[in-house]
Amino acid sequence: MSPPAPAPLAVAVHGAGGRMGGVLCRLIAAATDLRLVAAWGRSGDDRLGRDVGTIHGLGPLGVPLERLGVRGTRPAVVVDFSLPAAWPALAEFCREERLPLVSGTTGGEDPERTLAGVAEVVPVLWAPNFSPALAALAEVLPTLAGLLPEEVALGVLDVHHARKRDAPSGTALRLAQLAGSGTRPVATASLRLGEVVGEHVLYFEGADERLEIRHRVHDRSVFARGALLAARRLVARGPGWYRLADVLRDPPP
Ligand SMILES: NC(=O)c1ccc[n+]([C@@H]2O[C@H](COP(=O)([O-])OP(=O)(O)OC[C@H]3O[C@@H](n4cnc5c(N)ncnc54)[C@H](OP(=O)(O)O)[C@@H]3O)[C@@H](O)[C@H]2O)c1
Repeated sequence: MSPPAPAPLAVAVHGAGGRMGGVLCRLIAAATDLRLVAAWGRSGDDRLGRDVGTIHGLGPLGVPLERLGVRGTRPAVVVDFSLPAAWPALAEFCREERLPLVSGTTGGEDPERTLAGVAEVVPVLWAPNFSPALAALAEVLPTLAGLLPEEVALGVLDVHHARKRDAPSGTALRLAQLAGSGTRPVATASLRLGEVVGEHVLYFEGADERLEIRHRVHDRSVFARGALLAARRLVARGPGWYRLADVLRDPPP
């Protein structure tokens, strides 16, 4: 007789009323090893109390959009895609309740410092981009930039949908920091255009040649899948601050 399957991981989504929140709810509902136990939205959201699946056109999921708080089953992990203004309350809550936190919220100043209090007591993973391909690029970028002549000019362009609030994107800032090692200047530019989910282009402009690296996201599910993969792996870790690359290297749970 095969051993019984482990209980699904109880997940709470913070920012559940938004675009990424909707994708996360859909993917969690479809996963046999995950269970959506809470969907948290902004306290003034007039959709509070409605089923979060219905809000996103997925059909009822049996979980209402609520303001932050544990009411039913206690989550094992919180996945946050909201706004930086929500971080202070979320950080205090996760610290008090000792809830591991995966966050993809961008546009906030110094996430590591803002969420440091949480990382003292539980594992915390923040990533400005949950695409596994971009996480791999981030790993090799300093090496690549270091191999190119110093006079090569560096640039990062990010293109996102017109409703994106931060510019440059969190990813563009991170790529610029990695390519320039924090010492070389990196030109940045942002385009906010139509429904573009996310595109980043790195430029290495030499005297007689240019190297370009382009990453294009076809569907925002890639970010949600990456965040849920991180959530599955983060719960096995001790308190501390983690990067996506740290958990991508873990063997599957
Ligand atoms: N790291 C990554 O891979 C990645 C990928 C995509 C997006 N992002 C980032 O993730 C965040 C969300 O993106 P999105 O496209 O889903 O944006 P969105 O559609 O604007 O969703 C954000 C949601 O958070 C809600 N919210 C605001 N304050 C809140 C609070 N105090 N508590 C709970 N919920 C609150 C918003 O409500 P209201 O609309 O009522 O204010 C909205 O429903 C952004 O920072 C974006 O840049 C990161």
